[in-house]
Amino acid sequence: MDNKTLALKAVEAKKASLPTYSHFHVGAAILTEEGNIFSGGNIETSSYSLTICAERTALFKAISEGERKFKAIAIASDAPDFCPPCGACRQVMLDLCGDIDVIMINHKEELKILKLSEMLPFPFGDNELK
Ligand code: THU
Repeated sequence: MDNKTLALKAVEAKKASLPTYSHFHVGAAILTEEGNIFSGGNIETSSYSLTICAERTALFKAISEGERKFKAIAIASDAPDFCPPCGACRQVMLDLCGDIDVIMINHKEELKILKLSEMLPFPFGDNELK
């Protein structure tokens, strides 16, 4: 699975998002080590803080289907520029996926790819709990 194909799955996943209040559609697609893809969109409720981002929707779908090892996650949004994952999602992804590739796609279908560790330096994690 190449990066562009995964990124286009994230674009497709925006269609299933439910941003009732912000009207800002985000889609994500996560690739497992075995080559499976799980996708999802952001979901909002009237109690705004209970929103779930697209990245966590996709990741939690994969985890709940038994997946544990991941290679990359792609993110697409309504913004013309690249949509970086929020801080909360960075923490969740680092805890559950490790140092995966984060692939962002803009409206021109250009890609920006960073390692998750570049996006969340000096993180809190398992080691602090020992
Ligand atoms: N959102 C995501 O789904 N992923 C991100 O990386 C950034 C923000 C969502 C949350 C909320 O539904 C909307 O975008 C506006 O913040």
